Amino acid sequence: MHIGVPTERRAYETRVAATPETVKKYVAQGHRVTVQSGAGITASYLDGAFAAAGAEIVDTATAFGADIILKVQSPTETELPLLRRGATLIGILDPFDKDNAAKLAATGVTAFALDSAPRTTRAQSLDVLSSQANIAGYKAVLLAAGLYPRFMPMLMTAAGTVKAARILVLGAGVAGLQAVATAKRLGALIEASDVRPAVKEQIESLGAKFLDVPYETDEEREAASGVGGYARPMPPGWLARQANIVHERAKQADIVITTALIPGRAAPTLISVETVKAMKAGSVIIDLAAGRGPEFEGRPGGNCPLTEVDTVVTKHGVMIAGYTNLASMVPSDASALYARNMLDFLKLILTPAGTLNIDFSDDIIAATLLAKDGELTRKA
Ligand code: NAI
Repeated sequence: MHIGVPTERRAYETRVAATPETVKKYVAQGHRVTVQSGAGITASYLDGAFAAAGAEIVDTATAFGADIILKVQSPTETELPLLRRGATLIGILDPFDKDNAAKLAATGVTAFALDSAPRTTRAQSLDVLSSQANIAGYKAVLLAAGLYPRFMPMLMTAAGTVKAARILVLGAGVAGLQAVATAKRLGALIEASDVRPAVKEQIESLGAKFLDVPYETDEEREAASGVGGYARPMPPGWLARQANIVHERAKQADIVITTALIPGRAAPTLISVETVKAMKAGSVIIDLAAGRGPEFEGRPGGNCPLTEVDTVVTKHGVMIAGYTNLASMVPSDASALYARNMLDFLKLILTPAGTLNIDFSDDIIAATLLAKDGELTRKA
């Protein structure tokens, strides 16, 4: 098979879908691998390293002309015409962007959106959302430490004692738990909350305090259990009680990291404008749901309505960071983990002899298949 690796073109994207490590494995399996010249440069994987691993360094059209195209993000409008009917495309294709998905389907590619993989043990090794959210959670804490005008750990010095930073983490999935673990290493005092009670133990085992918002109805309990490992929107009553608790805790916090996402829906508002106003001057919010929250003043917000996409704004004395691609800020390791996710997915669709054999009855294939034969296969 010819496996092509084009350069990512979208704004703030620095990752690449294969690394010399994975290229070497594809080549050892007998595949021809073409990497677009410069595709790995922003992730510190140079053409020479790909060539040494057995790849051919090629132009855009050749990489897109492959039988199997490995991408991080969905092709842009200018890249869509380069896709060959019948080719296989794999990436984070955002199945909930219906317009983009329809355009992708119209090219006639067989498209797999790895961002809709089931949350099962078998799918774990190809779960791109997990591998990249883990990096985002880590980077969120480092960004916060960079913006925060004080020390993170408690320090006792001859010039006096400095208090440890208080961090509130809202949403304790993959990113949130990594944020807790990273903040702990930096010496912060951490509280964390999630709709799923199952995370209480995980939060506590990382040395943070679980912020409980008890359920009052069966509807709340059921919504909190999510669906297929993905969160569902919580009923308004629970969200209102959560908002009161968050408001009180955010007033005490120095740093708030929000990571709450609901696939296919607007991200919930967790830090209201009133809460930002009540926070201490010099506090920091890192909003990992930036651009995915409800619209506020004509712009998409995040878990906080005041968040602005891909920038840091100071509102009411609070710095709010709305970067949308934190994994791309750790491009080398983000690409390394992503490339291994790809490698594992390809094991599902390639035979040991190196031919394509897609079992459409497989649950991972069925969940990730976005388009085939010019049609959308997934109802988003
Ligand atoms: P995500 O990125 O979609 O959401 C982040 C977190 O926000 C979730 O934990 C969610 O419960 C939480 N959230 C949603 N609404 C909220 C609200 N109003 N207030 C507070 N928190 C809210 O989720 P992610 O990180 O992709 O995965 C969530 C969970 O799924 C993981 O922690 C894990 O338990 C499970 N999972 C299982 C996998 C597997 O078995 N293969 C792989 C990955 C995740």
